[in-house]
Order: sequence, then structure tokens, then C-alpha cells
Amino acid sequence: MFDSKIYIQRRKRLKESIQSGLILFLGNEESPMNYPQNPYHFRQDSSFLYFFGLDSPLLAGVINVEEDKDIVFGDDVDIEDIIWMGFQPSLKDRALEAGVEETEPSNKVEEIVKVAIQQGKKVHFLPPYRSEVKLKIAQLLGLDPDTVKDNISKDLIKAVVEQRSIKIDEEIEEMERAQSIAYEMHTTAMRMAKPGVYEREIVGKMEGIVLSYGCNISFPTILTINGQILHNHYHGNMLEEGRLLVNDSGAESELHYASDITRTVPVGGKFTQKQKEIYEIVLHAQERAIQAIKPNIKYRDVHLQTAKIIASGLKDIGLMKGDAEEAVKAGAHALFFPHGLGHQIGLDVHDMEDIGEDHVGYDDKTKRSDQFGLAYLRMARELHPGFVMTAEPGIYFIPALIDKWKDEGKFTDFINYEQLEEYRDFGGIRIEDNILVTETGYRVLGKPIPKSVEEVEEITAK
Ligand code: GLY
Ligand code: MN
Repeated sequence: MFDSKIYIQRRKRLKESIQSGLILFLGNEESPMNYPQNPYHFRQDSSFLYFFGLDSPLLAGVINVEEDKDIVFGDDVDIEDIIWMGFQPSLKDRALEAGVEETEPSNKVEEIVKVAIQQGKKVHFLPPYRSEVKLKIAQLLGLDPDTVKDNISKDLIKAVVEQRSIKIDEEIEEMERAQSIAYEMHTTAMRMAKPGVYEREIVGKMEGIVLSYGCNISFPTILTINGQILHNHYHGNMLEEGRLLVNDSGAESELHYASDITRTVPVGGKFTQKQKEIYEIVLHAQERAIQAIKPNIKYRDVHLQTAKIIASGLKDIGLMKGDAEEAVKAGAHALFFPHGLGHQIGLDVHDMEDIGEDHVGYDDKTKRSDQFGLAYLRMARELHPGFVMTAEPGIYFIPALIDKWKDEGKFTDFINYEQLEEYRDFGGIRIEDNILVTETGYRVLGKPIPKSVEEVEEITAK
């Protein structure tokens, strides 16, 4: 955990924003895989971690704003638990580590919430993303589960997003730790990218590295020779000479801060001319996107600038035509780059997306577009110092999408469908790093992972 002062300060700031009522944070429970005693790896709720820091199941945190009181609810272990789990520190001692002096047994939370409601106080809570938490909220507040969503606190959403978006130095240090694990994952994968090796062997090695640090992956690993499938979790293919391997993977630090890195390498260590041309476009677009990152710039503008570089690069090699700016305005580039430039990253790999993508990536000044491609931007609004962003452009050749657009006669002024036929089995290329927005610009987190054509070929050929 961080120093208790950090959690005290976070809760103090939240109270100042919310001003009245009760703020309820329910921690996560164990989640069964196939029977209750055989759960998935436990992952605490990120907002609970942010404000209360305690990383174990069945806890709740209540902040009584008017009385300036913070309470942690949970149960101390009994002798049966000790037999199976060993000694556990008392809830009182653990809560003190988060600067919380008051603790109560878990069944008391119901009473406190009921009293608050009787007194006409608002009970603020965030959107639940697990069914058991949704049911618990419904039960505590006397709501029908279907109406829980209508009672979510917009004020709390706004305040939490505002606080969690700005990472302090201690959080950045944690993120650097997650980066150094990602460095080892990615450089190991690059060295293993040889013909005859199976994708799953590389995934196993990478995830073993993460576990050896006592950590976990920050999202299900994407490692595939079919990089045109954006979130491909199938790892059963054998690597073959001439294919590209997309590796989009990362780890959580011990305190659950994420890394999310993508590299694309040629199996066997040498790009073909065609691969190199596309790779250089993506790399140039990614580097320019990173250089554009600074306070007050809208991430949608950085995305559009990146899209223009991609369109213009594809025009240079004959896959697109016409004016690159016009092509991007019309949305023609989205055939090749159908996703957004990136997202916030922190305690979640897509930070705070449980709270709602629109609340994290959009605001009154930046509304979501409904254009194909642009509509998928997770983050469009202005950046501020302390935000950590991913920058992850890509170029993909998705046969089903190419065929659909071609059949519809879509964007024939901007796309050379005939030339595209030669790229049907190309796959895809994505390159991703994690970037801190500083007072004056940006800082790429972590030790640089090979990225230029020369660096990637050198390490992959080893
Ligand atoms: N790392 C996967 C994603 O950002 O969607
Ligand atoms: Mn990402």
C-alpha cells in the first residue's frame, strides 16, 4: 500500500467535491470459476483500492461527508479461517494502514445506509460492473436491481474521474514497475518469435514472467499472427516465416497499476519489403502522436493527426488516393485504422471504464462522433498534466471489412481496392506505448522496448 496520508488526502478531496451525503464503495468478492471454493484470481475494485487501499475480498468503505468520517466494514477471521488461510491481521490494523480509524463488522453497513436514507441523505455510489455488487447495492438501498442504474451518482462519477485521472509521483513509480515487467515480457517474446514456435508457448513464457514477480497480467494477452483481428485471444497457431506477430500485453504492478504495450515483429527476424513499408507508416504515426501529446490538446485531434499520417503513408504506397485530409474527414482511413488512438491507463488498463467510457473520455466540450472508426474513440477530450495515455495506432487488412466496403462501393475516391487484393493475407500492425502528460509535454514511461525496424529485426533474429 501507499503511505496512509495518500488515502486520507484522496478521501478528503472527495468529501470536498461531494459536499453532502454518504459515499459507498463496495469492494469486490471472490468470483467462482466452477464452484464457490475454487475462485478466479481475486482482483479488488479499483476505486476501492484508490480510496481505501485494502486488497482483500468482502470489504466496504463508507465516507460520511457531513460528519467527516471514514469507515471500513469487514469481518475479522475466526479460527476456521485461520486453519485454512493462516493468520490474518485484524481489520482494525489493516484499516489504519489506509488512515481509517473506524471499522465495523460487515453487517453494520446496512444499518448505516438505512439511517442515512431515513434522514433524507443521498447515498452516492458508482456504476456496479459485477452482478453480486449490483444486487448488494439494490438490497442495501431497498431498490429493484433493474433501477440501480437510475440511482448512480453523477456527482461521484465526476469527482472520481477527476481525481483518478491525475496520477501522482507515487502512482507513476508503480506504473514504471509495471513497465519494467512489460519490458521483460516483450523482449522475451521477440527473442522467441521463430518459425515453428506456437503462439501459446510465448504467451506461457510471458505470463510466467509476470507471475514470477508476484503480479498478474493487466488484461488477457493478445498475441497472434492474425493481427488483423484486433482483440485476438486465440493462441494456438504455429509461427511461420513471412508472418507478422502482434503482441499486445502488459502486467499489473503489485499495487495493481497497469502497463499496456504493443509491438509487432517479423517471425524469424526480417521484415519483407511490403511489411517494412506498412511498419514504417505505423511507427511514424505513433512517434508523431507521442510528440503531439501536451496539456490542453484534445486527444481526438491527436487521433485525427495520426489518421492523416496513416492515410498519407498509404497513399504513398498506392493503397489510398486523393487528398489525405479529405479522406480522414470522410472516414475512409478507418478501413485500415478502425479504432481510437488510445485510452487512459492507471489502476485499470482502460482506466475507469467501469465508471463509463463517456465520463472518462468525453465531456461537455467533446461529444462522441457517430462516424465509423471515430465513434470508437475511448478518449477524445483534452489532456491534462498527470494523465497517462496509451498511444497505439495500427494498420490492419481485415478481409471481411475490405469486401463489405468494396461491395458497397464505399470511398472509391480514396481507396484503391484493386491494389488492396495483394494485402488480403497481410495481417495487421500495431505499436503502443504508455505516455505521461507532463506540465510542458510528455514522457514515455518505461525503458524503451525495441521499436525501430533495425532494433526489432536485431532482437528477433537473435
Ligand atoms: N490492450 C488492449 C486494448 O487497449 O484494448
Ligand atoms: Mn491499449
